[in-house]
Amino acid sequence: PTPDSHVPRDPRLIRLTGVHPFNVEAPLTDLFNEGFLTSPELFYVRNHGAVPVVREEDMLDWEFTVEGMVANPLTITLKELLSDYENVTYPVTLVCAGNRRKEQNVVRKSKGFSWGPAGVSTALFTGVVLKDVIERARPLRRAKYVCMEGADKLPNGYYGTSVKLNWVMDPNRGIMLAHKMNGEILRPDHGQPLRAVIPGQIGGRSVKWLRKLIVTAEPSDNWYHIYDNRVLPTMVDPDEAAKNPAWWTDDRYAIYDLGPNSATAFPAHHETLKVTEAPENYTVRGYAYSGGGRRITRAELSIDQGKTWRLTNIEYPEDKYRAYEDKQLFGGRLDMDWRESSFCWCLWSLDVPISELKESKDIVVRVMDESMNIQPRDMYWSVLGMMNNPWYRIVIHNEN
Ligand code: MTE
Repeated sequence: PTPDSHVPRDPRLIRLTGVHPFNVEAPLTDLFNEGFLTSPELFYVRNHGAVPVVREEDMLDWEFTVEGMVANPLTITLKELLSDYENVTYPVTLVCAGNRRKEQNVVRKSKGFSWGPAGVSTALFTGVVLKDVIERARPLRRAKYVCMEGADKLPNGYYGTSVKLNWVMDPNRGIMLAHKMNGEILRPDHGQPLRAVIPGQIGGRSVKWLRKLIVTAEPSDNWYHIYDNRVLPTMVDPDEAAKNPAWWTDDRYAIYDLGPNSATAFPAHHETLKVTEAPENYTVRGYAYSGGGRRITRAELSIDQGKTWRLTNIEYPEDKYRAYEDKQLFGGRLDMDWRESSFCWCLWSLDVPISELKESKDIVVRVMDESMNIQPRDMYWSVLGMMNNPWYRIVIHNEN
C-alpha cells in the first residue's frame, strides 16, 4: 500500500513513474476520444508526493490564508468562498511543462520522466476569480508577486510557486481558485478541495490543495519554484546544473506562459493503415494549444517530411462556452467576457486521400499562434526536458 491507497484511480491511466508518487497520462487515443473536455478519470496527474487526505465532512471548513505584503491579512474557508464571493465557471486546458518530454529523453536523457503527448487535459473549472480575493486583502504598493503553497508535505517542504501580481489582477488572464471540475467536487488527485488554476501557463503554477497565498516583492523562494519548471540554456548538462546554483535562481529561465504545441492522435504513432479496406480519405486528427491567452491560428500537415504543407480545419469548442449571453458561465461578469483570450486546446482535422497516404511513411504537424509563434523544426534540448515542442511526427505503416 502507498500513502495514496485511499485515492480512486482509473486503470486506463499509464503510470510514468514508480508506484508512488502518482504521475499518469491517458493513452492519447482515449484522451482524444473524450472530446474537448476531459473527464476527471482520464485527466493527467502530476503529484510530487502523497495526496493530502480531506474528509468529506471537513471540506467546507478547509482554510487558506492571504498574508505577506497586504494591509488586510485574511483567513478564508471554502464555505466563505462559496457564500461571500462571486463564483464563475469556464473551461481551461492544463498542460504539464513536461508534456512530450519522452522525445527529449530519446535524444539525450534529461532529469525528468518520460511524458508522452497526453500530459494535457481540459476541464470546466468553477471557482472564485483570485483578483477578488487579493483585492480584499489590499496589497501594498511595492508588492509584485503572489506566492502559493499547497498542503502536500514533500522532502523539500510544501509544494509552492508564484505568479506576478499584475497577472492576478488582470481579469483577462482568468486566474482563479477552483473547487469544482466539470461540475463536481475536485477529485483528490486534482487538489481537493481547493486549487489555483492559472490559465495559459504551465500546470506547475496551478498549486493544488491550496493553503497559503503570500503577497511578496520577489518571486517565490520555495524549493519547487527554484528547482523545477525551467528551461535552462541547452549547454547546461546535469553536472553543470548541479554545480552552479546560479542557473536556478535566474528568473529569466523560469517558465510561465505555454508556447505553441500540437500532436496527432489519429492515426496513432506506428498505426498500420488498412489501405485496402479504407474509404477514399483518412481523417487525420489532433490537438493544439498555445499560451498566455494566445489562440492557435493555423495547424499544418506534411506527409513529405516538411517539403509541402496542407492547411487543416480547426475547431475551437471553447467558444461555445464564452457566449456573451451565457450569464451562468461567467457569473454575468462583463470583465470576464474573453473575446480576446484563448485558454483551451483546439482540435484540428484534415481529410487526406488514402492514395497519397499510401506513399508516405510519416505525418508531421506544426501549428502557429496569433503572435506568429511557430513550432520549431528542431528540438531545443534542456536539462529538465521541458516545453518540448518541435514539429510532431508520427510514423505510419501501410498494410501492403
Ligand atoms: N500542487 C501541489 N500542491 N503539489 C504538486 O505536486 N504539481 C504541479 C501542479 N500543482 C503539484 C501542484 C504540477 S507540476 C502540475 S503539471 C499540475 O499541478 C498538475 O495538475 P493535475 O495533477 O491536476 O493535472
